[in-house]
Amino acid sequence: MIDMDTIVSLCKRRGFIFQSSEIYGGTGSCWDYGPLGVELKNNVKRAWWRDNVQLRPDMVGLDASILMHAAVWKASGHLDHFTDPMVDCRGCQRRFRADKLDEGEWVHYCAATKGNKFMVPAGEPCKHCGARRTLCPACGKGGLTDARQFNLMFKTFMGPVEDAAAVTYLRPETAQGIFVNFDNVLQAMRLKLPFGIAQIGKAFRNEITPGNFTFRTREFEQMEIEYFVMPGTDEEWHQRWIDERFAWYQEYGLRKENIRLREHEKDELAHYAKRCADIEYLFPMGWSELEGIANRTDFDLKQHSQFSGKSLEYFDEESKQKVIPYVIEPSAGADRSTLAFLVDAYHAEEVKGEKRVVLKFHPELAPIKIAVLPLLKKNNQIVETAKKICADLRRRWYAVYDDTASIGRLYRRQDEIGTPFCVTVDVQTVGDAKATADQKVTIRGRDSMEQIRVPISAVEAVISDLMSGQWAAVAKQTGLVA
Ligand code: GAP
Repeated sequence: MIDMDTIVSLCKRRGFIFQSSEIYGGTGSCWDYGPLGVELKNNVKRAWWRDNVQLRPDMVGLDASILMHAAVWKASGHLDHFTDPMVDCRGCQRRFRADKLDEGEWVHYCAATKGNKFMVPAGEPCKHCGARRTLCPACGKGGLTDARQFNLMFKTFMGPVEDAAAVTYLRPETAQGIFVNFDNVLQAMRLKLPFGIAQIGKAFRNEITPGNFTFRTREFEQMEIEYFVMPGTDEEWHQRWIDERFAWYQEYGLRKENIRLREHEKDELAHYAKRCADIEYLFPMGWSELEGIANRTDFDLKQHSQFSGKSLEYFDEESKQKVIPYVIEPSAGADRSTLAFLVDAYHAEEVKGEKRVVLKFHPELAPIKIAVLPLLKKNNQIVETAKKICADLRRRWYAVYDDTASIGRLYRRQDEIGTPFCVTVDVQTVGDAKATADQKVTIRGRDSMEQIRVPISAVEAVISDLMSGQWAAVAKQTGLVA
C-alpha cells in the first residue's frame, strides 16, 4: 500500500493538488486543485452525475445555495446535535476530538527509563512501564480538560449588521438544500414516488482534527442523493442503493480488495438515521469512510414541515392518501472519492531495470485522455501532423501535444499522470527522401505499454473503441508493433 506522503508529493509535483495559500505558509486543512487535479475531480463528478442523474428516469438534479435561512439548521437538528466532543491540552493548548484521542501514536516520557521520550503506538501501553496514555498525546506533558461539545458549523453574518438576527451558517451538508426544495421540485417536475434529487456542491465543517491530505478538510465537496420513497418500501430501497453505490466505485476502477461495507452500530447512528452503511476504502491511513448511505426516514421532511409551517406531503394517487415520504441518502464526498481513485490508481513497477510510476486511472477519470507526441521535434512535417491530430482529437477529448523531451521521457511523464493513450508521429508517418509516407501513427497503451499502428484517418474511431476498454480486441485486429 502506498503511503500518503508519496501521494501528496506526486500531487504537488505533477499539478494535481497544492496546499492552499502555500506562499503564506498554508492554511490548515485547505487544498487547491491544480490543472490536472481539477480535471480529475471534474471527471469524478461528471461520471457520478451522468450515472446517477442523466441515465436514470427517476432522478433529477438541483444546485441550491450554500447560505440558507438560519431556521433550516434548527429544524434539521444541526444547531443542537452537529457537534463533536472536544478536549484541550492545558500545557500546549492543542485541541483534540475526545473520541479520537487514542487513534494516533502518543508521546510518553517514561519514568522507568529516566524519563526518556517514546512514541507509543496508537491505543497501546508503554512497553517499558506499562502505562497507558492519560496526558496530552502530542506533548506528553499537559493534562486534558473535560470534554465539551463543539458545534462544527461555520457561523457567519448575512448582510452588513453583525447582530444575532443576521447570524447564519455555511451549510455543513448539501442535503438540506434538497429537503427545503422538495415541494418546488415535486410540483415543477410532476414527479411520482419513488424519485430522487441529486446535488453536487461545497459543504463546510469546522473539523477539530482535519488531516490525512484531502480526506478530512474544513471545506469540501459532497455528491448527495436524497431518494424519496413510500414508507414501508424504504428498507428495500436502502439495500438497493447500498449495492448500486458499492458497484459504482468498482466500475470506475477501485479494486475489490480495497473497498468494503461497514454497518453502523446503533449508538453511532446520526440523530436522523434508522440504518446507515458506510462504503469504506483502504486509504494509506487505514480503512476509512468514502460514502455513507443512510435511511433518514421521514425525519427531515417532517421537521421542515413543522418549522416552516408548509406542508411537505406527497399525494398518493393510488391510495388517495397524503404521505410524508421516507428518504434514502447515498452521500459521497467528491474530494474523498478523488483521493481514493488517485491512491488506487498508483502503481510503481520495474520496467527494464528502471522504476516506472503509473496512475492506472479508468479512461473516463483520467485528467488527460491522449498525448500526441512527435518523434522528432525538428522535423516540421512531423510536428505539424502531430499538432493537427491533437487539434482534431481535442474536439472530443482532452488531448495535449508535448515535444519537450525524448520519447521515452515523454511516455514516462504521461504514465505518471495517468494518460491512457499516447499517439506518436514519426518519420514513417510523413515520409522522407528514403521512404514514402504510410500516413499511420503509433498508439501506445499506458497499462500494457503495447503499441499498435493505425491510419491517421482511423485514429478517432480507434481511440473511441480504446476508451471503452477494447484494447485487446483492437490490438488483435491491427497486430502489435514489434
Ligand atoms: N448528508 C449526510 C452527510 O453529510 P456525512 O457522512 O457526514 O453525511 C458524507 O458526509 C460524505 O461527505 C462522507 O462520506 C465524506 O465522503 C464527505 N465528507 C464529510 N466530511 C468531510 C470532510 N471534513 N472532508 C472531506 N469530506 C468529507
